[in-house]
Amino acid sequence: MHVTIFGTGYVGLVTGTCLADVGHDVICVDVDQAKVDGLNNGVIPIYEPGLEPMVKANHAAGRLHFTTDAPVAMGHGDIVFIAVGTPPDEDGSADLKYVLEVARTIGRHMTRPLVVVDKSTVPVGTADKVREAIAAELAARGADIAFEVASNPEFLKEGDAVNDCMRPDRIVIGASDPDAVEKLKRLYAPFNRNHDRIVVMDVRSAELTKYAANAMLAAKISFMNEIANIAEQVGADVEMVRQGIGSDPRIGWHFIYPGAGYGGSCFPKDVQALARIAQQHGVEPRLLDAVEAVNYHQKGHLFELMVRHYGGVEALRGKTVAVWGLAFKPNTDDMREASSRRLLAQLWEAGAMVRAHDPEALGETRRIFGERDDLVLCEGASEALAGADALAVVTEWKPFRSPDFERLRQTLADRVIFDGRNLYHPDEVETAGIAYYGIGRGR
Ligand code: UGA
Repeated sequence: MHVTIFGTGYVGLVTGTCLADVGHDVICVDVDQAKVDGLNNGVIPIYEPGLEPMVKANHAAGRLHFTTDAPVAMGHGDIVFIAVGTPPDEDGSADLKYVLEVARTIGRHMTRPLVVVDKSTVPVGTADKVREAIAAELAARGADIAFEVASNPEFLKEGDAVNDCMRPDRIVIGASDPDAVEKLKRLYAPFNRNHDRIVVMDVRSAELTKYAANAMLAAKISFMNEIANIAEQVGADVEMVRQGIGSDPRIGWHFIYPGAGYGGSCFPKDVQALARIAQQHGVEPRLLDAVEAVNYHQKGHLFELMVRHYGGVEALRGKTVAVWGLAFKPNTDDMREASSRRLLAQLWEAGAMVRAHDPEALGETRRIFGERDDLVLCEGASEALAGADALAVVTEWKPFRSPDFERLRQTLADRVIFDGRNLYHPDEVETAGIAYYGIGRGR
């Protein structure tokens, strides 16, 4: 099928590439000329495992095209996706300016009947606004062309997005028009083998499904972080508690890992946006507000542990802390809402020096913080330890999982590890002669 995708960000690029990979003919449109030029020359603007060879192969095969030319792109697709950003505005609501700008572009250049699909995470009711924006443009140029607006939220995880897209748990199609549903079912048929993953529903339910999924996952994390804080105070180990509850299939093993808080471009933004949607409709979002508040607190927890260990904020002045992991999670270079940002800010405010290492996010870190005397970015994990007093682990990258504790004891002047992802066993660290602080490990 012929597909047009507006937006070559994370969602648009991964979706477009996966659709091309199963044989569809895809044009991705973006307003950023440099990005489009890069993509046409095999330069992938994001780090995502497995994506680069797929983009190159499908581009070379002539199934995946990149352009800034909206009229040409609109002449191509029978299905047109809107996959542009919805950043939070001042009060945390999703800002629809990019989505509606694309809707107007679609209305200006539409030449034949289409299915327009919202892929971006958008407030409930956005499909109606998109429909109005397109209709207004059509009316302005006296065109009478039939179109449908459907919602088809994405459930991609950064770092595993290609896999999520190629092997989805579910494909949510929100549309009322049977022809639009049929077209989208045909589009997704190659991803819907062996058993039916397609869930068809009305547009508003599809829009809400996306927020509900992310808010539920964020709630599980905040719940576990609260249990961790209780465990710390009552002398229990939350890792034992996690194993004790995860085996109940009603609870499940996933997303119950306590840590230094959740980050990324989705959970923080979507929990806040859903809370605003609730308020706008007269519902008090008590639980969503609590999920957010727990997470805010949790991002400061590693620093609290440091203050506790050193006996006050003042004692951190002049200390050098090695930080392993800056990205908001492993396998990405994304620093948006990353817990490391808060920790770094707290350390700097306390007058400490940071030597940081991340396998992918050093460039992002440099871009965000620039050159500063109290930040040394290190290419290797051991380089970050040189001259450090303490080690803080903030992101659970695989290479951090099994360090040489004997070497750490010799290197870290204060012989202390703050483990923000519970990667290590406290006994193993303490046996090596290093003080250990994890999340929720009060035993
Ligand atoms: C999340 C969802 O998992 C995807 O299903 C969704 O499609 C995506 O948002 C989106 O809306 O686009 P993502 O933000 O890439 O994906 O990252 P996750 O893997 O979900 O991790 C989010 C954060 O939660 C990370 O900071 C991670 O460290 C933290 N986390 C995750 C925990 O602290 N504990 C856990 O048990 C799991």
